[in-house]
Amino acid sequence: MIRIDETNLRNKTVIIRVDFNVPIKDGVIVDDNRIKESLKTINYCLDNNCKIILLSHLGKIKTEEDKVKYSLKPISIRLSELLNKEVIFIPETRGKIVDDVVKNMKNKDIVLLENTRFEDLNGKLESSCDDTLSSYWASLGDIFINDAFGTCHRKHASNVGISKHLPSCLGFLVLKEIEELDKIKNNPSHPFIIILGGSKLSDKLKTIENLSKKADYILVGGAMAYTILKAKGINVGKSLVDDDAISFVKTLPIKKIILPVDHVVALEIDGTRTITKNIGDEEIGLDIGPETEKLFKSYLEKSKTIFWNGPMGYYENPSYQEGTKFLCEVISKLDATSIVGGGDSASCVINMGYKDKFTHISTGGGASLEYLEGKELPGVNI
Ligand code: 3PG
Repeated sequence: MIRIDETNLRNKTVIIRVDFNVPIKDGVIVDDNRIKESLKTINYCLDNNCKIILLSHLGKIKTEEDKVKYSLKPISIRLSELLNKEVIFIPETRGKIVDDVVKNMKNKDIVLLENTRFEDLNGKLESSCDDTLSSYWASLGDIFINDAFGTCHRKHASNVGISKHLPSCLGFLVLKEIEELDKIKNNPSHPFIIILGGSKLSDKLKTIENLSKKADYILVGGAMAYTILKAKGINVGKSLVDDDAISFVKTLPIKKIILPVDHVVALEIDGTRTITKNIGDEEIGLDIGPETEKLFKSYLEKSKTIFWNGPMGYYENPSYQEGTKFLCEVISKLDATSIVGGGDSASCVINMGYKDKFTHISTGGGASLEYLEGKELPGVNI
């Protein structure tokens, strides 16, 4: 692992892979934490008189229409505001325009190329770590810096492929993440509690299985809980369920998993909220209920280490934020090491005003979970 501060960057053209995969609603950036966290590395390169080329993905690109929704243009504007400096946005991922702009760059210029995953429309070139694409991007600079921790569990052209063609190092954001996560990875103080929420259980089945060997309890909320409850034969009405995961739930370490005992439900996603222990056929579970809050609190109060990934409910609507906010409040008062990881949960913690109450807010969701599991992250081993 080569560090950015052990690499001679003076006057070089650096390619920095950042993770600007931030939530955007109607063209407006909802949470710019990942952009802010990338500033240390960018400013360090500016201090070293570098020419800076930034690469990032945003969302998943499956159709031509996705390209409109997931352009990095709004992000270049926000980055420029944060740096108080021009950021040259190129609406292309490669080709003559990119080559010409890069050739004419001056020291301290910052260029942001368009979303690297636009290349996925041509046979998944980015996501399959295509070597021709990797070597093209590498040809634009002298040194590659990976500072996209959120993407380190992926082996893509823009974060791993390039490193095969250029001297490479890790940026300050990735180094800080590793340092913080190492505190709980190898020897966590017990009780070690993992809180999981969000919707996609199928993505996390293996992770839950592996992490359960380290954790004492796993508190599960959000839509993930409805999937497990359904698999156990409990009625979850019209709640969001990850059907792909249902048949695998029996492989989970059920004894360690603590599930909600009551729920905030409504008949429509933005309808009137009620609290129930038994979800009706027509109801949608949208948050954990007060009895569940008490139950989760009783576990958290005894804990020495907490890792949290995924909100407890449909937090986008303020009516269903209570469970997530309650956990923030409980954790903020504990004398425990607490790390929250993942776009949505980190956004919640920051937007609800608890940023300084956690030991660390990780910019990585899947990446931090896989790192804690003990998996080698391809983006770190460059
Ligand atoms: C994330 O938000 O977890 C990272 O940016 C990775 O995004 P991905 O899951 O779309 O690869």
